[in-house]
Amino acid sequence: MNSPYSDKVIQYFQNPKNVGDIEDPDGVAKEGSPACGDMVQLHLKVDEKTQLIEDIKFRSYGCASNIATGSIITEMAKGSSIDEAKEISWQQAADELGGLPAVKNHCSVLAVDALKEAIRDYEEKNGLIKEQLPTTIEVVKERLKHVMNPIHGLDVLHTNLISNIEIDNNIILIDVDLDEDHQFAPVVKEDILEKLEHRWDIKKVKVSFQK
Ligand code: FES
Repeated sequence: MNSPYSDKVIQYFQNPKNVGDIEDPDGVAKEGSPACGDMVQLHLKVDEKTQLIEDIKFRSYGCASNIATGSIITEMAKGSSIDEAKEISWQQAADELGGLPAVKNHCSVLAVDALKEAIRDYEEKNGLIKEQLPTTIEVVKERLKHVMNPIHGLDVLHTNLISNIEIDNNIILIDVDLDEDHQFAPVVKEDILEKLEHRWDIKKVKVSFQK
């Protein structure tokens, strides 16, 4: 049977590199693809002095193209500076893999988005974001697009899991449309806090669930 994949894609899919988690990561991302509902998680460890990526690991809940792309971009990013890693594009990753079928471009985009989001997460936690815009509802919504709804594998906004957002006196109040004793409530809360409590002008983030 003719395969639509290059030898390199098959090789990286069958023997992916840098798979797993990093204990106490400096940057994290969980990204979902609206195109297929698949998810990818990425962890980074950055050397504080040199700003070089000293370790990077990913887990893919996606297809062969996504696994191969996650594998190649983690290899490309490891040892590079965060500024260099930010420039890695899905097209570069696809080229490195010897091409991907056009219908699989979104799988490659998903992996690269996870890398960019993990770098942004690192920069935000370390006060490295240059444009310190005030936190508005729109900013909160943009950050929540990077919090996954574990039930659907898509973000909490697109799946209507967030029923209300308010900002009052530098405190963000978020209502989640999930019972407080739901098995996924703790992980949703943790991911929301992770994306918002490092905002430079925010004192506290309160996440409420249904009673
Ligand atoms: Fe979902 Fe490839 S089809 S990541």
